[in-house]
Amino acid sequence: METVDDVYQTDVLIIGGGGAGARAAIEAKKHNVDVLVVVKGLFGRSGCTVMAEGGYNAAFGFIDKEDNEQYHFEDTVNGGRYLNNQKLVEILVGQAKIRIIDLERFGGAFDRITPDKLSQRYFGGQRFRRTVHKGDRTGHEIMFALREEVTRQNVDVLEEVAITSLLTSEGRVVGATGLDLIHGRFLLFRAKAFIIATGGAGRIYSITTNPFQKSGDGYAMAFKVGAELVDMEMVQFHPTGMVFPSSSKGLLVTEAVRGEGGKLYNSLGERFMARYDAEKMELSTRDIVTRSIFSEIQEGRASEHGGVYLDISHLPDETIKQKLGTMLKQFLDVGIDIRRQPMEVSPTAHHFMGGIRVNEVCRSSISNLFACGEVSGGVHGANRLGGNSLAETQVFGSIAGEYAAKEARKLPYGDINYAVLDEEHDRLYRFEEGEGVLPYELKARLQTTMWQNVGIIRTEKSLKEAIAEIKEIKNEIYSIKVESGLRYNLELLAAVDLENMLLVAEIITRAALMRKESRGAHFRKDYPREDRRWLKNIILSKINDGIEIYTEAPLITKMKP
Ligand code: FUM
Repeated sequence: METVDDVYQTDVLIIGGGGAGARAAIEAKKHNVDVLVVVKGLFGRSGCTVMAEGGYNAAFGFIDKEDNEQYHFEDTVNGGRYLNNQKLVEILVGQAKIRIIDLERFGGAFDRITPDKLSQRYFGGQRFRRTVHKGDRTGHEIMFALREEVTRQNVDVLEEVAITSLLTSEGRVVGATGLDLIHGRFLLFRAKAFIIATGGAGRIYSITTNPFQKSGDGYAMAFKVGAELVDMEMVQFHPTGMVFPSSSKGLLVTEAVRGEGGKLYNSLGERFMARYDAEKMELSTRDIVTRSIFSEIQEGRASEHGGVYLDISHLPDETIKQKLGTMLKQFLDVGIDIRRQPMEVSPTAHHFMGGIRVNEVCRSSISNLFACGEVSGGVHGANRLGGNSLAETQVFGSIAGEYAAKEARKLPYGDINYAVLDEEHDRLYRFEEGEGVLPYELKARLQTTMWQNVGIIRTEKSLKEAIAEIKEIKNEIYSIKVESGLRYNLELLAAVDLENMLLVAEIITRAALMRKESRGAHFRKDYPREDRRWLKNIILSKINDGIEIYTEAPLITKMKP
């Protein structure tokens, strides 16, 4: 106990303050419980939701009147290559509309076609204009609204704290440990119910749209206490990230560009999507557009800086300014005027379809541990449709908040094992005693091997090479040395993150090795899609010091391949 600098006690502890965590907090608070949201960065300003650009799927049918929830369901399951948990998909499509109306009640205002009808745009893999938006800064509008409501509801928020582990007793979670990033203090959190809403792990790849917080902490901490993970091999590479300058490499170029009519060309001036999906062209699903761009680059038809061209210059200047204002500025900043010139784009690691396995009320395999948003797995199957993720944060954030609050009301606080607490303290601060390797070097090695070997195209050989490299890096982690006593010790955080990243990378690679087929975002050059053997979810959990891995049929309620 002497190792602990401060103790926090609450009914519901929410780990992560992005779209899902914030929505969970608002809902939990309605049930008369104390709620504390712990954020690794700044609330409302860090994480992925605030960076989300293109939109939020809800089948209102404001523009395309035929659209409805059934079509939204079908597009989602088709896009997910039938690996989705269809019960979760039913919930997503059934509640997406009401949850965006909530956001407007909280203070958000999305683009409109008439005062009472929201504007909707095309997004990939969807038959109708379904994606509600605020220009191309939809996530910013959502986080703004959520922040307002969280403040109004008097939810406690603690910023700049990384939760590093969960503590268990008698089969449930009773606490969590945290590292205060500003002062380096070691914190203990006690709660009755816990919600993980930490988002994904894009930072395990060298090219990603994700901000630096996304090191897979939620997957790692849930796995370590025995929660099941599902389909972790399913990593989405967004087709269009920036290509240059190197400081912007991987930065998101929103699908809204293609939704508004953007066309893809190779260096020969060919609109190459005609070769890969002549019907949907640029609005094919992300797995297909990504591999098409990748093939063009690999086969020598790349743009000047090694991507492909994305052109929107045929649209009126005013439309670009209104609907794609962020893109206009983002490219003007690097000397490209997208009203006149094409952008250069190439794929970038973006989203994790897999995650903590949850049921319809967001409960994990541990009864008082809930998960929502990207960190949870199942709803998107093998390939997520753009726009379904923001909807997921609101629909399942709300559900997780409600059920975690109800759980907390039934439970007393559990006992903390102080020996385990001390071990966690020593695990974190041992980096200050190391021998001299900087965490950044090892992190870069991991990111490179994941990009090259567990990326868009995978083979048995590449995956085994990744496993070997992960093992070597794990051995070297013991010699990391970070400065001690720094204010905002980014070196220490990098070292702590790296341990989570290595574990998540290994889990992803092992699942990718096991799935001997290609499906959705998981493309194995050595195996085609095979429904007979592989229409299966891959479930992973901890066994002793290793990984137990097995398959199970996905939950199909309505639609078979
Ligand atoms: O391209 C985008 O605007 C991203 C949207 C999403 O991933 O849902």
